[in-house]
Amino acid sequence: MSPRGIEIKTAEQIRAMRKAGLVVAEALVAMGEAVRSGVRTADLDTVARAVLADNGAVSSFLNYGADWGIPPYPATVCISVNEEVVHGIPGDRVLNPGDIVSIDFGAIVDGWHGDAARTFIVDGQTSAEAADLVQITRKAMWDGVAAAAMGKRVGDISNAIQASADQAVRHVGIVREYTGHGIGSAMHQNPDVPNYAHARRGPRLSTGLCLAIEPIFTLGSAETVELDDQWTVVTSDGSWASHWENTIAITDGGLWVLTELDGGRAELAARGIKINEL
Ligand code: MF3
Ligand code: CO
Repeated sequence: MSPRGIEIKTAEQIRAMRKAGLVVAEALVAMGEAVRSGVRTADLDTVARAVLADNGAVSSFLNYGADWGIPPYPATVCISVNEEVVHGIPGDRVLNPGDIVSIDFGAIVDGWHGDAARTFIVDGQTSAEAADLVQITRKAMWDGVAAAAMGKRVGDISNAIQASADQAVRHVGIVREYTGHGIGSAMHQNPDVPNYAHARRGPRLSTGLCLAIEPIFTLGSAETVELDDQWTVVTSDGSWASHWENTIAITDGGLWVLTELDGGRAELAARGIKINEL
């Protein structure tokens, strides 16, 4: 642990985290393929559980919060549809054509966590507004990841995400209550990675730092409300939301996106950045 309570990983530990990241990436692909109209959100949890079992991995989410006097999280995946922002509990909600579905998933392999999210469009077509929102949020995530490769401090990631939102073709609300985070032997570690520029520029981006970078944007108000189930978060104005997340590692020679099948190679190459696999 560094003085600021940040867990610095060795190369070997980052390689172990890559195993968890690949399980997460694989599960998100499998759930994305299962997303279509008529499917219940609970069916996607079933898909995720099969991927965990096939890989001998454990859920990062199941029973999360059990120690805090809130209902323990009851599923392996968070599925947030349309006006749901984050932490939607899989259940009987049926997906409709044009819905946007944010799927957030975490896995543990040999004690190391991976955490990532994607937003899918049900049956591939939605309104222009919703399609823009999904692309703007996805791009902001990659802009944040690129800033992790090129920046000096965690605050540079935050600045890049906010700048990406501010420059987008359409106005989006940046949700502030939920942030990215350090990750490693626990899912949530120091430091926080806000999705908005902040005055304190944060810890240095140094070798061995692993972060979950996760913009959460809306088409309207950035204000959120938690439902009575004590998990599901919705927008206060009913506007739709999108959530994209990847776990990254800062390595000696650069950056590795642990929760992408290609390690981030394609998206970062488009930004002139070479990934560094260990
Ligand atoms: N994966 C979420 C995050 O990105 C947290 C999930 S909450 C849980 O930080 F309860 F489902 F675990
Ligand atoms: Co996260």
